[in-house]
Amino acid sequence: MSTESPFHRGEQILQQRLGVRDKMERFGRQVIRDQLPAQHRDFYAELPFIFAGHADNEGWPWASILFNAPGFIASNDARKLQIKAAPVAGDPLAAAWQAGTHLGLLGIELTTRRRNRLAAHITGVTNEGIELGVDQAFGNCPQYIQHRELLALEPQALPAPDIEGINSLSAEARALIENSDTFFVASYKEADSGQSSDGADVSHRGGKPGFIRVDGNTLIIPDYLGNNHFNTLGNFHETPKAGLLFVDFEGGHLLTLTGRVELLWDSDEAQHFAGAERLWKFHLDHGFYQKNVLPLRWHLHDYSPNTLLTGTWPEAKALEQAEQQREQWRLYKVQRVVDESCDIRSFYLQAQGHQQLTFEPGQFLTLRAMVEGKPLIRTYTLSSAPGDECYRISVKREVGSSDRPEGLMSNYLHRHLAVGDVLEAKSPRGGFSFDASESRPAVLLSAGIGITPMLSMARHTLNEGIRTRSMRQLTLINTARDQSQRGFFAEFDDITEQSNGQIRNYWALTQPGKASRPGRDYHHRGRVTEELLQAVLPLDDYDFYLCGPGAFMQTLYDQLRALGVQDGRIFAEAFGPAALVRASDQPSTVFVPQAAAGEAVVEFVDAKVEQAWSTGDGSLLDFAEAHGLNPEFGCRSGQCGACKVPLLAGSVSYQSEPSAAVADNEVLLCCAVPAAVAGEGVVKLALQF
Ligand SMILES: Cc1cc2nc3c(=O)[nH]c(=O)nc-3n(C[C@H](O)[C@H](O)[C@H](O)COP(=O)(O)OP(=O)(O)OC[C@H]3O[C@@H](n4cnc5c(N)ncnc54)[C@H](O)[C@@H]3O)c2cc1C
Ligand code: FES
Repeated sequence: MSTESPFHRGEQILQQRLGVRDKMERFGRQVIRDQLPAQHRDFYAELPFIFAGHADNEGWPWASILFNAPGFIASNDARKLQIKAAPVAGDPLAAAWQAGTHLGLLGIELTTRRRNRLAAHITGVTNEGIELGVDQAFGNCPQYIQHRELLALEPQALPAPDIEGINSLSAEARALIENSDTFFVASYKEADSGQSSDGADVSHRGGKPGFIRVDGNTLIIPDYLGNNHFNTLGNFHETPKAGLLFVDFEGGHLLTLTGRVELLWDSDEAQHFAGAERLWKFHLDHGFYQKNVLPLRWHLHDYSPNTLLTGTWPEAKALEQAEQQREQWRLYKVQRVVDESCDIRSFYLQAQGHQQLTFEPGQFLTLRAMVEGKPLIRTYTLSSAPGDECYRISVKREVGSSDRPEGLMSNYLHRHLAVGDVLEAKSPRGGFSFDASESRPAVLLSAGIGITPMLSMARHTLNEGIRTRSMRQLTLINTARDQSQRGFFAEFDDITEQSNGQIRNYWALTQPGKASRPGRDYHHRGRVTEELLQAVLPLDDYDFYLCGPGAFMQTLYDQLRALGVQDGRIFAEAFGPAALVRASDQPSTVFVPQAAAGEAVVEFVDAKVEQAWSTGDGSLLDFAEAHGLNPEFGCRSGQCGACKVPLLAGSVSYQSEPSAAVADNEVLLCCAVPAAVAGEGVVKLALQF
């Protein structure tokens, strides 16, 4: 076995920088070959076109397209290849069409989105084309390749080629680039080490139209997650130059550019660009606009699923602006309303006049609506995934009883909110979030409407798994009373099916009806027990996420702790004031509440209300309401920040740590009480409200 690495120095440096060096060396030695496997030879033989990358004798890289009737690429020997074609008019490859030139080749079938790559060198030129020796061959996955149908035209029917040399981008060239969803990039490392990894490369790049920004003669291009070979970026490290080829798929023209590149590792701009791992800049040196050179036309069928998970520059700009206005109330229009169970209804919300902000799965929206003539604020977890087109909230209707009025907001939303209605919401927030890139498997345990964050987490895990080709293992255990209350059953099944076994889901029904069949409609009868957990969870180290009524979460938390799960591995969210009593493993991390006062004089300065508060009066929010004031609130549990007011004098105590951000000169009314002050029997507190 060869001791030579399949990756050259630049590729290795990038792999090292991104922490994948050892893995890629092991992987590369298995998949990068020095000859063409039989299925690659068959694949190339079917292609009507192939892309090539080379460096000219002044050291500028160029990307080109070669085409002919299928069969024009042939390989009778696994180490050799013949291409019967010639460079198109104006292609700089014509000058390098000679023995010794190193070529990177990319065979790509846009109809099936298959592709294979190879590095080769020209060994001879014939009347019909070139003969090549194979240096490296490997397969490539479809990733960001858009599905296109090909149409071949009669070359005689085409207008004469029109070749224009350029050293700046015209409005026409700029429009082609800005509307492109695909381009090809050539790069190279000087073939100076004698290793097969040296030489030229040509790669495919795909994104949504608008993924390339043009600033004068500079292009700013996002770099998405790829195969971790870093063939292009590794070459940039060694030779910071690129050749770009834009194909006008409908018009049959080519824009061929060469220039210098700059890698932007930590650009702030990348933060708002969905899918961008980093950016690179291309500064045009010179190029050619080659019109009427292709007898091929392509019709766009659909975008690759990976492409749909990425952004564009206009979206990134709008996102940056929206981020700056995160604290404001924004308008959302109801796009769809779906009944998920007998008492859960989903509302799909489309941002109106602003860019929808992304969020962490598990976060919630704070909604404001006029109910019975008064503004009402409530919080609802997003049940959609961050990459989904719309936000989705799923609301359980809080029915009333003889001793309990029905819930105001949930009933208002169920009865009155319809498609086309507009409501106000603040941008997503909340500390209950989930990292889909974590390698440790996770267990999501929910009861009732506590299923909403789990849906978002599961959908996000699936999307990220598809995007990165590495899916976090999830086990979902959802509890409902019976089949009528069991929402999102089909959606979870669909997620499980698409995940190829990485995401499993179980249903526990506490009172399944007679018509419900175990195995088909549910997996476990009764509540979630230690036995059930032990039965469905293979021995492993998990993160646990809990959401549901307070009693459900406390019981499960205690069970998990009894099973030896560390406190730090259990994450929980209550949809209200219920606070989980934790038994921490690390006393130093426990929140120590400041002592509460027994009595206080509380002044709401703007309202000109000053009243005596004592322990039984509850939170400052309860106290304000009891005195006829109506401060804003959402979660009533320190999570949303809706009840925040400025603190003018005195200090407050929180009995459990609020998850909403709160500064020292602010107070979350819903979970604060006046704090004790040493030596003072009755403390004084002044609030701006
Ligand atoms: C972080 C977070 C995320 C949430 N996510 C979701 C979600 O995804 N989906 C969802 O459906 N909900 C969610 N909630 C709950 C939601 O915010 C609301 O609390 C819920 O919809 C009830 O609001 P309401 O206005 O209908 O009820 P309210 O009018 O606020 O009443 C709440 C409950 O108290 C009872 N009640 C009201 N007044 C009295 C009284 N005087 N005496 C006795 N009982 C009374 C009502 O019957 C009702 O059951 C979330 C809450 C939080 C904090
Ligand atoms: S009401 Fe949500 S933090 Fe107080």
